[in-house]
Amino acid sequence: MLLEVTGFSKHFGGLAAVSNVDLNVEEGEIRGIIGPNGSGKSTLFNLISGVYRPEPGGTMYFDGENVTNLPPHEIASRGISRTFQMLRIFSQMTVLENLLVGHQRHTRYGILSAIVGTPAVWAEERRMRAEMMDLLAFIGLADYATMPAGELSGGQRRLLALGRAMAMRPKLLMLDEPAAGLSPLNVDKLLETVLSLKERFGLTLIIIEHILKVVMDTCDLVTVLEHGEKIAEGTPAEIKDDHHVIEAYLGKEMKDADVRAFLRG
Ligand SMILES: Nc1ncnc2c1ncn2[C@@H]1O[C@H](COP(=O)(O)OP(=O)(O)OP(=O)(O)O)[C@@H](O)[C@H]1O
Ligand SMILES: [Mg+2]
Repeated sequence: MLLEVTGFSKHFGGLAAVSNVDLNVEEGEIRGIIGPNGSGKSTLFNLISGVYRPEPGGTMYFDGENVTNLPPHEIASRGISRTFQMLRIFSQMTVLENLLVGHQRHTRYGILSAIVGTPAVWAEERRMRAEMMDLLAFIGLADYATMPAGELSGGQRRLLALGRAMAMRPKLLMLDEPAAGLSPLNVDKLLETVLSLKERFGLTLIIIEHILKVVMDTCDLVTVLEHGEKIAEGTPAEIKDDHHVIEAYLGKEMKDADVRAFLRG
């Protein structure tokens, strides 16, 4: 098991945002996480990535190591990377600079030699830029490397967020609604890029997604949250037939037509 989360809980005041959730993800898997609005999906990502600490009793193992309660940068350096539901792109910086920021931890030289400047540092800098340009080419943004990120289209911003998370060279990539707000065509393109990144870099993926077609077509297993609790887990086919899942969605005002299409189909 690449990721083993046991008994994760997080309250905000009296509200149980995440309640005693277990999550086991195999290496190479694509896991989907679905659930109505406010069911705790993003909070679970925040717990896994170290943004929030789980309440006592919660444990997390990654790649065989106990990583419970490590701060976000430590979790990231172990190989867990994520995107945010609200994109955190530096609009004033160029596309390439946005990736270089994400890449910092892989610089071998300290801040002092970076300021003083030595041939080894310059070589490292060149190597890093070349690597990030390769990554930009891979996600189809090489032509925009020197453009301020604020000038990108919505679909390109989503790609850049993906690239930023990839700059950390993760083993596990967690995507929080990566295709939100995109047209169907751009959703397909983004998904294609995600899958080719997975192949190229041997990633394991956890994807929070409201577009259920994406989840059903792409994921090996799906975990369903409602009111912070895991109410179902299984293959897409199993989830589709689970009456708890159907109730969870029918009981809420549905987020979009995809939910209805999912329940019908
Ligand atoms: N920082 C916070 N402070 C207080 N309450 C929070 C905080 N973050 C999340 N919550 C609450 O916790 C619950 C779960 O929120 P979360 O964002 O994890 O849901 P979600 O499943 O990601 O929803 P969505 O599909 O809308 O993105 C919600 O009721 C939310 O209002
Ligand atoms: Mg969310």
